Amino acid sequence: MTASPLEAVRTYEVRTYGCQMNVHDSERLSGMLEQAGYLPVAEGDNPDVLVFNTCAVRENADNKLYGNLSHLVPVKARHPGMQIAVGGCLAQKDQAEILRRAPNVDVVFGTHNLGSLPVLLERARIEHEAQVEIRDSLVDFPSVLPAKREAAYAAWVSVSVGCNNSCTYCIVPSLRGGERDRRPGDILAEVGMLVQQGVLEITLLGQNVNAYGVEFGDRQAFSRLLRACGTVEGLERVRFTSPHPHDFTDDVIAAMAETDNVMPQLHMPLQSGSDAILRAMRRSYRQDRYLGLLDKVRAAIPDAAITTDIIVGFPGETEEDFEQTMHVVREARFAGAYTFIYSPRPGTPAATMPDQVPYDVKHARYRRLVDVANAIVWEENTARIGSTVEVLVALGEGRKDAARDRVSGRGPDNRLVHVAIDPSHPLPRPGDVVTAEITQAAPYHLIADRVLHVRRTRAGDASEVPAAPATGSGVSLGMPAIRVGSA
Ligand code: 5AD
Ligand code: SF4
Repeated sequence: MTASPLEAVRTYEVRTYGCQMNVHDSERLSGMLEQAGYLPVAEGDNPDVLVFNTCAVRENADNKLYGNLSHLVPVKARHPGMQIAVGGCLAQKDQAEILRRAPNVDVVFGTHNLGSLPVLLERARIEHEAQVEIRDSLVDFPSVLPAKREAAYAAWVSVSVGCNNSCTYCIVPSLRGGERDRRPGDILAEVGMLVQQGVLEITLLGQNVNAYGVEFGDRQAFSRLLRACGTVEGLERVRFTSPHPHDFTDDVIAAMAETDNVMPQLHMPLQSGSDAILRAMRRSYRQDRYLGLLDKVRAAIPDAAITTDIIVGFPGETEEDFEQTMHVVREARFAGAYTFIYSPRPGTPAATMPDQVPYDVKHARYRRLVDVANAIVWEENTARIGSTVEVLVALGEGRKDAARDRVSGRGPDNRLVHVAIDPSHPLPRPGDVVTAEITQAAPYHLIADRVLHVRRTRAGDASEVPAAPATGSGVSLGMPAIRVGSA
């Protein structure tokens, strides 16, 4: 379905909300639209097709989406032929309700049928009628769809979609369905192809990567996959997200420790430090298991930077429960913590539990937690001063440091590092690797102003070729910062 030469080429923009799974899916949406003949819209212009890839995990996501859509009413009126498509988790949740609340939407598609987008757009255009297509189960693994990646040096590779757990606060299983695993051969073939294209870093992606293999009955499938990634020539960095503390087995720790290109970094969602709350969340590990896991990981991988997700104010959470979470945060010394105020998601068991915590209480606890967690992160960052890191330079990551003659990227442990541009070395490009000494620490980043070496890579070369329509997809990617969908 390529645009005919007589037709003006139509432009598109994809706006992405939520987790990495959506970022991954948006790369497929962009890839498919380009294959269908659309071009990315120039910055500042209105696209002919605007796609919202939505998230339902956050509170108010719906209101924000409907607000955005209503702002587009006059834009669409001024722009004949403009089409608006809504996909992702909110679309899966609200389905045709989206059209009732936002009649200017042309296409609604779900998390299980991304591949239908170009056809639905075309059908809506020809039939002058909005199209809604939501499926209950996966049509195609998104991985088989064409992708348009923002960065030449890093890529997401999905190992599974969906989740078989039923954490009581979480809406993901009802929107993404049960777990479906990709075959290891398919995953490794994709990894190999990406590395051939110059990719240096891959992040294996799944709602619960440690459960990987349940579908084909191999309990050690994930550790085998990590080890197999270790044999891929040219693949420098392997990460994964997210594991679940329940399924995080010793074979995975051993594979991490013994596979050179698996990075010393782990994002391990805690959610709560209280055993009673973990039980109410239907999370099957307890505080001592969680802390014990971190001990094992650190014994095997001494430099591991461990980050987490925490929910504050789950129904029934008492001051004592909250103190248990604070206790774990103090013990665990996380290198980063994503903290969330519990927000009821309609349709989840926790939403109707008694003893919902009043907003003021949730908020006050949240502030206390953030203060303690941030202070620890800063202390841990400060302890890195004087050490040497290899920074994989990213596309426009972090704050605007260009004016200060620095580029930004991630160290092996995934910490954000701003590194000096030193005229006595080659100018580092996105995808190149700079070895430098850390000279300063801040709460959310490190500064490395003593440059020892700049290694030019194939990914760096690729970033110099004016990336054919590389902007305008609306997905700002850079290096995958560890934000997690779930687990
Ligand atoms: N309320 C608050 N936070 C939530 N998360 C998931 N569901 C909710 C909810 N209902 C958080 C979890 C998860 C992260 C992606 O979002 O911490 O790991
Ligand atoms: Fe699954 Fe993660 Fe949601 Fe729990 S929080 S149900 S593990 S996606």
